[in-house]
Amino acid sequence: MKQIAVVGVGYVGLVTAACFSDLGNRVVALDINEEKIEGLKRGQMPIYEPGLKELVERNDKAGRLSFTTSYPEALDSSEFAFICVGTPSGVEGEADLKYVEASARSIAENMTAPLVVINKSTVPVGTGDWVADIITSHQPEPIDFAVVSCPEFLREGSAILDFMNPHRTVLGSLDREAADKVAQLHLPLRSPIVITDLRTAEMIKYASNAFLATKISFINEIADVCEALGADVKEVAAGMGFDERIGPHFLEAGLGYGGSCFPKDVQALAFMADEMNTDPKILHAVMEINSQRRLIPVQRLEEMLGGLKGKVVGMLGLTFKPNTDDMRDAPSLDIANALLAAGAKLRAFDPVGMQVAQPLLPDVEMAPDAYALADGCDALVVNTDWNEFKQLNMTRIRDSMRQPVIFDGRNIYDPQKMADLGFQYRGVGRGYDGAKTKVSLKSAKGHAV
Ligand code: UGA
Repeated sequence: MKQIAVVGVGYVGLVTAACFSDLGNRVVALDINEEKIEGLKRGQMPIYEPGLKELVERNDKAGRLSFTTSYPEALDSSEFAFICVGTPSGVEGEADLKYVEASARSIAENMTAPLVVINKSTVPVGTGDWVADIITSHQPEPIDFAVVSCPEFLREGSAILDFMNPHRTVLGSLDREAADKVAQLHLPLRSPIVITDLRTAEMIKYASNAFLATKISFINEIADVCEALGADVKEVAAGMGFDERIGPHFLEAGLGYGGSCFPKDVQALAFMADEMNTDPKILHAVMEINSQRRLIPVQRLEEMLGGLKGKVVGMLGLTFKPNTDDMRDAPSLDIANALLAAGAKLRAFDPVGMQVAQPLLPDVEMAPDAYALADGCDALVVNTDWNEFKQLNMTRIRDSMRQPVIFDGRNIYDPQKMADLGFQYRGVGRGYDGAKTKVSLKSAKGHAV
């Protein structure tokens, strides 16, 4: 049984702590936020993540997982310390490292035996070296340590599944022995393990997130072309995805990406590249395309309703994606503000996000369920692709609405079925009859058509 300290019980830290304890290690999870730690001791999770509460409870009962605010307690007998603190965006889009710095200092000041310090937070390339310098300069007396970068690739909503079934484990260090020790911790997960240097590991994380964000902005750009030319982006994506070089994932067109990772990480990577004068054109385009997605619902609803002033609009879904209560950089926030600014009256329903969302959207009335939401609405907007929205009784929804108008920002409904039910329906990038008439074959000149 290895003993591990995990610093930071946000979403990454808590999942890491719970999963490593479930793999049979003894884990002490630390946070400087006393309220969070006291809550966790009472079994209250600071975030909603499927399966997390049960996992924490099970390992807490088994005596493998405990919580503390004390660094000496967390580091006592620990061979490993994972840094899992937040790296929010700074004023210019750079990653703000104040929490990483504070953790590194506290680790340095409180370690009493050799330690492998593993960074899981998403940090700018070069941070591992900087953390090593901080630890060296803040140790009261020299004690052996090594820094390893082990970026996380967890998705909110399926973080436990992702932790237990990783596509790969990336470890970066200048100290091969330390990297091997961390690799041992990951052996039960049976994933390919990439061992490389610190900076390369840090870059793998940014490049991975930026590539996924690029796929999303790419398919969203294609969606606009599909819509203009009368093609269906869902089928285009499915047709593309069979090519193994492209793959079927992250080709869902819609309102773009949100959350605490992609927006911040693409921005931070672009910031680093700009600083180095490498002129990152794709990264800037990815961000620009993504921010424009959030204007689409207002434009479409204005077209469909002939203006938004005084119209009652119901928002189906608020969180940045399903299976989470996370509202960080959720497209719904910008969409709600734009609809309110255009004079609409707004209501919303989200299966788990309303408590977190309400203070952020004080002018939006929250409805107890999707049917109550639709009652008397002039239009609905689908912001989040929660599974339960796909199963709604649409006849009942139609009958209770003032006008059966839907803008489906996540393409969860079938356009033909919705038209058959009598809805005025628009999805994203799904050719509709109006568009087809506009197609010109000029661009096909010289090619067989
Ligand atoms: C993302 C990555 O997927 C994880 O691998 C990574 O570890 C994590 O960031 C992180 O850096 O911590 P996450 O932000 O939880 O995970 O969510 P995703 O499932 O990746 O979705 C991000 C956003 O993209 C959501 O708003 C989602 O609606 C949107 N999206 C996703 C699309 O618009 N289209 C798609 O095809 C896929």
